Amino acid sequence: MRVDGQLQVHEYRPGASGLPLVLLHGFPLDHRMWDDVVDLLPGERPVLGVELPGFGSSPRGEDVAEALGLDPAPALETAAAGVIALLRALGHERVVLAGLSMGGYVAMAVLEAAPELLAGLALVDTKSTADAPEAAANRLRIADAVESSERVDEVLGMRTSILGATSRANRLDLAERLESWIRDQGPNAVAWAQRAMAVRPDRTEVLRSYSGPSVVVVGEEDELSPVPTAEHMVEALGAAGESELVLVPRAGHMTTIEAPEAVASALTTLLARVEA
Ligand code: MLT
Repeated sequence: MRVDGQLQVHEYRPGASGLPLVLLHGFPLDHRMWDDVVDLLPGERPVLGVELPGFGSSPRGEDVAEALGLDPAPALETAAAGVIALLRALGHERVVLAGLSMGGYVAMAVLEAAPELLAGLALVDTKSTADAPEAAANRLRIADAVESSERVDEVLGMRTSILGATSRANRLDLAERLESWIRDQGPNAVAWAQRAMAVRPDRTEVLRSYSGPSVVVVGEEDELSPVPTAEHMVEALGAAGESELVLVPRAGHMTTIEAPEAVASALTTLLARVEA
């Protein structure tokens, strides 16, 4: 049943039971960027691909904020509150949460708002730091351009810029898949998310307070969240808990489609640690 303002979710394994694995997608995409990884995950646990505000079939960020009684200004905290409300509505009190890039930013906001929900955390090609002022200003420029043109062309270049150099040279199919997924997203979602990411705070301290199992995965050719940003998160996660760093050779920012075996293997190991 569709509830006003509730985020939509793709249930990869309807009817499965056990501790769910919840997947948060990157920008400007939807849950499909996890498909190749899910195909490789063993077991029968529920796997949920959440559509973040405005993406896929989810309601707009403004409508999520209104339904939850939150400030209407774009904010990743609204996305996180939407994820938490969805999981509670589905009756999930504990989950293993994995987020790629923007999905990772939202996962860290979920960790801050509702740490009791997290049995395990996977941060993939993401970072815990805030944007530098120039990067934030560029996001606002893109948001304005997308909104005024009512087209997503301004972010189409991401079909290649988020791939690693090896994939850019050899995997035209991946750029084509990314382009079709980007074209499926609405300008409102792209503008809302850019504005929300522009004002996100540094959440390194939130990671320092997390004592559960975690893994940080990064493509060695990731130009948007490079390896040192992953090492920074592993160091923070190691303050109270135990974290593992997984470096993925010949992959960039889209490890879930460039090297799905490596991501599936990292998640499988994390799930085993959570259950041990
Ligand atoms: C993503 O892949 O989600 C984006 O690169 C996030 C960002 O723009 O920081």
